[in-house]
Amino acid sequence: MQTLCGTLLQATAPAECRVTDEAIVRIGEDGKFAGVSAGPAPRGAVGGPGRWILPGFIDAHLHLPHWDRRGIDGLGLFDFLEKIVWPAEARMADPDVAERIAEAFVSGMIAHGTTTVAAFGSPFPQATQRVFEVFERRGLRAIHGMMLNDTECPPGLDQEADASLEDSRQLAARWHGAAGGRLQYAFSPRTPLMCSSRQMRGAAALAGMFGCHIQTHAAESLIGVERVRERFPEALDEIEVFAEMGLLTGRTLLGHGVHLNQHQRRQVAAAGTTVIHCPKANLFLQTGLMDYVAHRDSGVRVALGSGIGGGFDPFMPRVAVDALQTAKAVKVHGLPRGTSPVPTVAEAWWLLTRGAAEALGLADRVGLIAPGMEADCLVVRPEPWIADLEPSCRPSALLYSLRPDQIEHVYIAGRRVGP
Ligand code: GUN
Repeated sequence: MQTLCGTLLQATAPAECRVTDEAIVRIGEDGKFAGVSAGPAPRGAVGGPGRWILPGFIDAHLHLPHWDRRGIDGLGLFDFLEKIVWPAEARMADPDVAERIAEAFVSGMIAHGTTTVAAFGSPFPQATQRVFEVFERRGLRAIHGMMLNDTECPPGLDQEADASLEDSRQLAARWHGAAGGRLQYAFSPRTPLMCSSRQMRGAAALAGMFGCHIQTHAAESLIGVERVRERFPEALDEIEVFAEMGLLTGRTLLGHGVHLNQHQRRQVAAAGTTVIHCPKANLFLQTGLMDYVAHRDSGVRVALGSGIGGGFDPFMPRVAVDALQTAKAVKVHGLPRGTSPVPTVAEAWWLLTRGAAEALGLADRVGLIAPGMEADCLVVRPEPWIADLEPSCRPSALLYSLRPDQIEHVYIAGRRVGP
């Protein structure tokens, strides 16, 4: 049994962020929370005065091969693909390189308090195998899969559709549900621009068979939207392409979704598909400002992604802050002017933790610090003045001022994994 103590903050509903002073959190030998109570710190407990206990952060869209290519500014999306993404992924053909990058990636995630990722891999099966082995050993919770792209990408990265589907099938058979369910496989067709219909339909069928997630990119940029229209002239739009290919499902994670219109948002909501909002990447690559409020009000499930390497910052509280600031920018600069309220800080904590767990189908496992849930949590030591604020101000001050160097302990499934 391990015991943590400190001020407990957790989002229990989109509009509710609970703060409990002098909380005592017990983690059992089975890696699950065994109890949550309040009182003076027991002897030998981890944490103590000035410490806060938070659920681990969830990053629902990022690219592992781009980990060490963050922050290279000055490129639009398609130049970014040419100059940064393709070379970054090409080096993963060497499984030793893939393993080295996976190690750095996991260290980076843990150092930033991210305990669950939904991350794209490279188009190479051996590299994907090595990455999963690193996740298994290091303890990260991950939804991950080999990138699928067999069209309009450079030689060496493009696959043969049937072989890539067979490789994905084998990887899913090996890794989906591994490490006690901590690891899950995601079929990962990059985008309808870079996948044949055969590859997309095959990925959808296999994901259905295995009960796996599908992760892809949708409506990230206006140029991309136009190119999808040219490539599939018989389809009404990109969402119809996804639906026709069998990719618009309740286990699909659509990255970005910046340029979805109201009708498309309703289709996405009706399908139970999740949109992953990547506000930092959308600004960095100048692809647009996603209207989070319009998505939420249409009933779309949303989680947050750092969008690495289009996003440059792995620290998810800052991604959440950018989601709040982007919603404000859309409200004050959008035409017609928005009237719906912008998301609250409580909603930001929800999107970072419990809301993301729900959107990723992990609500029975993580996102909440409560008995029976798997123990993914952080002990942090924020600036001390936060404790002196009126209770209603504290979640906001913590969200906006927390820094990665203030993370003292990271637990995943009850195991201390860092930093
Ligand atoms: N669209 C297709 N592939 C990618 C990628 O690797 N990064 C981003 N940001 N967008 C994409």
